[in-house]
Amino acid sequence: MSTRSFVELIADKSIVVLAGTGGVGKTTTSAVVALHAAKAGRKVALVTIDPAKRLADALGLDELSNEPSRIDLGADGNDGGELWALMLDTKSTFDELITRYSADPAQAQRILNNDFYGNISNALSGTQEYMAMEKLYELAEGGDYDLVIVDTPPSRNALAFLDSPNMLTRLLDHWLYKALMGSTRTIMKASQLLLKQLSKVVGGEVVEDVVAFFQAFEGMEDGFKERSQRVMELLASDACAFVLVASARRDTTIEAAYLARQLADNDLDVAAVVMNRLQPDFVRLNRRPRAPEYEPFLRAHDELHALADREETHIASLLSQVESDPVVVRVPLLATDVHDLDGMNQLGTKIFPN
Ligand SMILES: Nc1ncnc2c1ncn2[C@@H]1O[C@H](COP(=O)(O)OP(=O)(O)O)[C@@H](O)[C@H]1O
Ligand SMILES: [Mg+2]
Repeated sequence: MSTRSFVELIADKSIVVLAGTGGVGKTTTSAVVALHAAKAGRKVALVTIDPAKRLADALGLDELSNEPSRIDLGADGNDGGELWALMLDTKSTFDELITRYSADPAQAQRILNNDFYGNISNALSGTQEYMAMEKLYELAEGGDYDLVIVDTPPSRNALAFLDSPNMLTRLLDHWLYKALMGSTRTIMKASQLLLKQLSKVVGGEVVEDVVAFFQAFEGMEDGFKERSQRVMELLASDACAFVLVASARRDTTIEAAYLARQLADNDLDVAAVVMNRLQPDFVRLNRRPRAPEYEPFLRAHDELHALADREETHIASLLSQVESDPVVVRVPLLATDVHDLDGMNQLGTKIFPN
């Protein structure tokens, strides 16, 4: 097990990506890590995805947004650090990309008004993951922040975000696109024939939209490919840490181990594993009181310790499958949900013990 502390690890990084299956506390942990780093004096940008309503309220995030807004850390001495956060707005982020990277406003309008674009920018699977990565790129490359923290979407394939930058490039690499954009006569002819057939099946308008979309997109695909490559470089660099968040249950540790393996397959290391919502640590009785009225307490004591022991076997099993020697952080289940700055500070003392 790594002897580094989690504080040291985070202090050393400029990008932190939190991965894990849904419901384990990924969004909450992201917010607590961001808050802690800001209080340590850094300028932090937090990209959250679907935060619980009350946590969003506590962070002053009352709506989806494109730009981070500054969060008031209160009177707490924070060494000049700043916390900025946004709740990722997938559709507007995509629109903004189109506007920013199109050759001129007319091209941007053609794409934004296109029905096919309207569909993919909202509904294509992987778009949310993809926009999270574009946002990461924008914030990390912009150079305005010391640390960018990205919460990842709770998709079924929790690593979809790794593949998502390829989503659009794959679409643009598609043979149909190439055929449509191809200049040779035979290809044009063949594709026109095909489009005629296609129109009969899905309707002429749909096909026209798709063709118009691809045509309008011309010249932009290289930029999209370059950025997705750059994101992969950022993720693989020493400046970035992947933090795996899991709870100590059999099913979630199996999923977390799978995630770690997928990261490893992409040459990405898990820098830390946060085991969240563990049985709180409490006294282990050595001498057992005999009086019968203690019996229910003793039973509860034994059951809770058995639970804690079982959690340890799940943790050990997960760690044995993570090859990268991660920092391990154990976080107890608090008595209440974490939905305000107080709760975040309280969780902070557990995630970053002194
Ligand atoms: N250590 C903890 N103790 C108590 N409640 C927690 C803890 N960690 C997370 N929670 C609560 O669990 C719920 C799910 O957390 P969330 O961060 O939204 O999970 P995820 O983003 O992984 O889906 C939230 O209500 C949050 O307040
Ligand atoms: Mg979440």
